[in-house]
Amino acid sequence: MYDTNRKWYKDIAVYQIWIRSFCDGNGDGIGDLQGVLSKLDYIKSLGVDAIWFSPIYKSPQEDFGYDISDYRDIQPEYGTLDDFRKVVDGAHERGIKIIMDLVVNHTSTEHYWFQQSRKGGDDNPYKDYYIWRPGKNGGKRPPNNWQSTFGGDGWEWDDVRKEYYLHLFAIHQADLNMDNPAVREEVKGILRFWLDFGVDGFREDVITFISKANLKNGFPLPIATGIEHYARGPHLHEYLQEFYDDVLSKYDCMTVGEGPGLNAKNCLDLIGEKPGHVLDMIFHFEHMSADGLFTSWIPRPFDLKKLKGVFTKWQKSLYGRGWNSLYIENHDQPRVVSRYGDDKVYRVESAKALATMYLCQCGTPYIYQGQEIGMTNIPFDSIDEYIDVQTHNIAAIMRKLHFPEKKIVAAANAASRDNARTPVQWTAGKNAGFTDADKPWFTVNPNYTTVNVEAAEKDPNSVLNYYRALLALRKGSELMRYGAYEEYYHENSSLYCYGRMYEGKRALVVISFAKEPMAFRAPEGYELSEGRLALCSYNGRANAAGNAFTLRPYESRVYIWD
Ligand code: GLC
Ligand code: CA
Repeated sequence: MYDTNRKWYKDIAVYQIWIRSFCDGNGDGIGDLQGVLSKLDYIKSLGVDAIWFSPIYKSPQEDFGYDISDYRDIQPEYGTLDDFRKVVDGAHERGIKIIMDLVVNHTSTEHYWFQQSRKGGDDNPYKDYYIWRPGKNGGKRPPNNWQSTFGGDGWEWDDVRKEYYLHLFAIHQADLNMDNPAVREEVKGILRFWLDFGVDGFREDVITFISKANLKNGFPLPIATGIEHYARGPHLHEYLQEFYDDVLSKYDCMTVGEGPGLNAKNCLDLIGEKPGHVLDMIFHFEHMSADGLFTSWIPRPFDLKKLKGVFTKWQKSLYGRGWNSLYIENHDQPRVVSRYGDDKVYRVESAKALATMYLCQCGTPYIYQGQEIGMTNIPFDSIDEYIDVQTHNIAAIMRKLHFPEKKIVAAANAASRDNARTPVQWTAGKNAGFTDADKPWFTVNPNYTTVNVEAAEKDPNSVLNYYRALLALRKGSELMRYGAYEEYYHENSSLYCYGRMYEGKRALVVISFAKEPMAFRAPEGYELSEGRLALCSYNGRANAAGNAFTLRPYESRVYIWD
């Protein structure tokens, strides 16, 4: 039986906003806080309980806000601290919590700290805020072979300081030196500032990279050379413990850490279910490569068995020991219906199947803007149409490796983060209702005439209304939130079937990933006639003959015995 160890973060669902493409309130073509304010009722109507904002801080936007130049101010394009005050208050009035993105592995090189740090000098308090090293070979070569995870060298020469600085991401995202106690004090100051402002928690960007073990050469992996020296570094736990003890533990807040490379075992020393664990949840990536070799940039046919295996492993490994976060999309991933579903013939059906697949599991669900209406990838014809720095860097590497341009575009079509960053499609009108400006800052997906919120609102069978039904089901059911998980028919490569059990109650979740009808028989011990059909993705119509029925393409059903 689950030791419930109840915390509010276990009972919520979170909606992620990537503000630039969410909704433009002032008609300049760029999403902003006024736009968010105007959509709070819509967000509430989904049945979510919190908003996670991807970074809205001041930033030169090289990596769209993940390159911060002022942690205590809002990017002017998005509004002011007063506008954010209104958003936080408006959300709280509606019972919606606010989660901020905490990006402290690195700052923008435009940050005051970096501008000071590059001046060097022994009495400069900022001197060791970043990871500076002289070059090798009389200064001409970087200090080691580490690569940026966005592609290219992990070091950049600075002409002012006459040294190299480390950047694990884009060139103007300089890694902070977290081994410096003064930097950790700065982080704690930022945490306090926003908690005192009234936010309810943090999503901690690449937090598992903050402790670098050493600066030795790394094993030459394609774009992650050096990663064995900084993923889960030796002081990670200690620094997170310090943030927790000195700040987080004093507030009623939640944390979710982005943890590239974490697995269902080694995450437990961070999120393990004990008082004072240093993070409440983590985002792992293992279920994000069911259509690729490590990443969808190296495409493979979608493999449902692989996907099921990952989910099952995390459900089992964390049950009673830690708390899962559940997500299938975010601002770094292509649209899931285009990856794991069918965005052509069965867009609606497969979007519902994917929603059922993850929203009926144990953990805190996250829903990315536009996911709730089944938004799809955008089919660009050329790399020039992309704006994302990672996409351009990877395209450059592929060119160096002599990939034909057609292949590079095909890879970006499938894998680029820009697929998730097109404006949210609100209506079938001008610019999808995203902005009144003549031109939105980024291309609107041409399918907005049919895929949009307005149309989905009117259609009782829309993806949107199905998300609402699923979230309502979770909200009303401890079984769905806290039940143990058991997978069935694992060998079937087009069916996902699992049960949930809690205090004598049970649920059976049945999802077809087939484009053809598929015969189904309930696993032993589940008498369909004794349960009730709580949800069906096909218009509520669902017959069963005894314990068997035929699943329609991408049909999902949830039966409950309570
Ligand atoms: C995280 C963010 C991503 C960003 C990177 C560097 O992975 O989710 O968007 O580019 O960190 O901050
Ligand atoms: Ca705007």
